[in-house]
Amino acid sequence: MIERWLKESSYTVVFTGAGMSTESGLPDFRSAKSGLWRTKNPQQLASTYAMQHNRDEFIAFYQYRIRTLLECQPHIGHIILANWQQQGLIHQIITQNVDGFHQQAGSTNVIELHGTLRTVYCSRCKRTYDAKRYVDEQFTCTCGGFLRPSVVLFGESLPYDAFEQAWTAAERADLWIVLGSSLQVSPANELPVIAKRSGAKLVIVNMEPTPLDEWADLLIHGRKIGEVLKEIDAFL
Ligand code: APR
Repeated sequence: MIERWLKESSYTVVFTGAGMSTESGLPDFRSAKSGLWRTKNPQQLASTYAMQHNRDEFIAFYQYRIRTLLECQPHIGHIILANWQQQGLIHQIITQNVDGFHQQAGSTNVIELHGTLRTVYCSRCKRTYDAKRYVDEQFTCTCGGFLRPSVVLFGESLPYDAFEQAWTAAERADLWIVLGSSLQVSPANELPVIAKRSGAKLVIVNMEPTPLDEWADLLIHGRKIGEVLKEIDAFL
């Protein structure tokens, strides 16, 4: 059925969450057993409060995440999505992920709602550096300012342009495919609803149930995204 919807759709958006990258080796946040937030407190580690008042743990957490990221790479699912975009089957990828795997796999003009872990920038002069500096224990800008990851921390708002573009895509979409998101974090989780209200078909592919399941025209739970995408690709 999805194959037909993909072919018939004139504007398809793929919306991904951390579940898109677990098969690359990156942990997600809310999976029942392995999610990062099952054992760690995001407010203590991934918030503006943590950056200011818990800096050592903040740095150690992002060093861990950047080091892990540099050891991993896109999987077949990312590559299939890049191919579908090149074939004109999907028109926009919007991701909550900060791993840059969609771009590495060849996808273009990816909207990154929560920023990127690929770079860090100076809190004072805003100069940007490769995130590898964190692995090399370099946390200070040439101007003396503190270097922080280019991700949206809890307590910060999303990049305005990214969210505005994503909102426009949601109003325009006639097919919206969610891959690997618990859809529990706003305002990102409002986008599938905007799409649905604007007349799009909504597909949710997620190992576990989500709060938006009742809105979905097609639900695929309990299956790995890589497998599902390979199966669909074989029928295209
Ligand atoms: N195949 C299918 N689904 C999967 C897979 C997989 N291989 N691996 C994990 N999942 C599902 C999990 O069941 C989970 O419901 O992906 C979902 C990931 O949800 P979260 O961990 O909550 O990630 P996400 O929705 O992207 O979180 C949103 O929260 O912490 C913030 O900024 C962070 O961008 C993140 C945001």
